[in-house]
Amino acid sequence: MLRYLTAGESHGPALTAIVEGFPSGIVIDAEFINRELERRQGGYGRGKRQTLETDRIIVESGTYHGVTTGGPITIRLINNDAKLERLQEPASPRGGHIDLAGSINYQTGIRQVLERASARETALRVAVGALARVLLREVGIEVFGYVRELGGIEAPPLSFEIEVRDASPVYTLNPEVDPRIVAAIDAAKGAGDTLGGIVEAVVTGCPIGLGSHAQWDRKLDARLALAVMSIQAIKAVELGLGIEAARRPGSKVMDPIVHKATDPDDRRFGFRRPTNNAGGIEGGTSNGEPIVVRAAKKPISTLASRGPSVNMVTKEPQLAAYERSDVCAVPAASVIVENVVAFEIAAAVVEKYVGTSLSAIKTAMAAMHELNRNHLKNEYRTDKSS
Ligand SMILES: Cc1cc2nc3c(=O)[nH]c(=O)nc-3n(C[C@H](O)[C@H](O)[C@H](O)COP(=O)(O)O)c2cc1C
Repeated sequence: MLRYLTAGESHGPALTAIVEGFPSGIVIDAEFINRELERRQGGYGRGKRQTLETDRIIVESGTYHGVTTGGPITIRLINNDAKLERLQEPASPRGGHIDLAGSINYQTGIRQVLERASARETALRVAVGALARVLLREVGIEVFGYVRELGGIEAPPLSFEIEVRDASPVYTLNPEVDPRIVAAIDAAKGAGDTLGGIVEAVVTGCPIGLGSHAQWDRKLDARLALAVMSIQAIKAVELGLGIEAARRPGSKVMDPIVHKATDPDDRRFGFRRPTNNAGGIEGGTSNGEPIVVRAAKKPISTLASRGPSVNMVTKEPQLAAYERSDVCAVPAASVIVENVVAFEIAAAVVEKYVGTSLSAIKTAMAAMHELNRNHLKNEYRTDKSS
């Protein structure tokens, strides 16, 4: 079972993740992981914190000469802005944050809970997700994330080129609308406000059969939804058509199935969907089409204009506490969703192919492919068809 835990506070000395169940035999691509961390720190609209931090992974266990051993992998990120013990208790809780409910839930001050709830933790999620992508790359699975909408401005992709996304200040695939989005972020900042948006992650190369229909907690769509919904400020998760499916008749939602003879290595055994409204998962199981996960990120609740709140001592009205904050973190959210999705796909791969090592996974994948080819041949023979 591939899983991870994170630890650390936003302004504590460091953030730590322990990744358990990661297969042996994978060369840790620190350059790639650090590049993903850098992308998470970027995007137009971020606050000053990102100029203070330089996120670079330190791998403290689970490798030997840079190659994974199968033992738990410890990943550490140092916080340059470590000042937890010097920070004061906010006088008034911020709406949209853990501040009030967490202080009551854990019988602490606000500081203790907000430091842990902070999205600084998402740096670790990106690090472990990017680590998982190194494994996925080895088995031909790629994940790609981008921004689809920001501040209500739609940015439908004009192409799916990584260079286009990486050249965009807001990580869209539509350079034509970028200037409008940047202007909207500037306007929000000027008004002491913030902006949210919609991001999408697309997984290609998945074999048929990740996840399962047989039990609720083994369904791949359910696992993806849990993982993505757990990201700070994500308020909705969709697969494929998502909410839009509810508005259409069945004939405009169901993906037709066609078959074309292909080479024996084809992971879809020749089966194709001209449309992909299901977003690559049917009955909790990957169907070989691209897996498309969309997530809605709310605008940041810490407002420079400060929302109404109360003083925790007097209970008198007092504006919500303001601490240095992002105006827009939607581009960063696209990087986080991309890598969080990658981790769940890698976990499904490790589970299905009983992967203690990379070579075990590759062997099991090839064997399963042959098994399924033979199954299709034997189960559906012409002499058996009715
Ligand atoms: C990449 C990223 C950056 C964020 N930056 C901030 C921030 O600077 N200030 C803030 O108040 N909230 C920020 N948030 C959102 C909060 O972490 C989140 O809203 C809060 O922890 C409450 O959790 P909830 O919105 O999931 O209920 C950010 C979220 C993400 C994903």
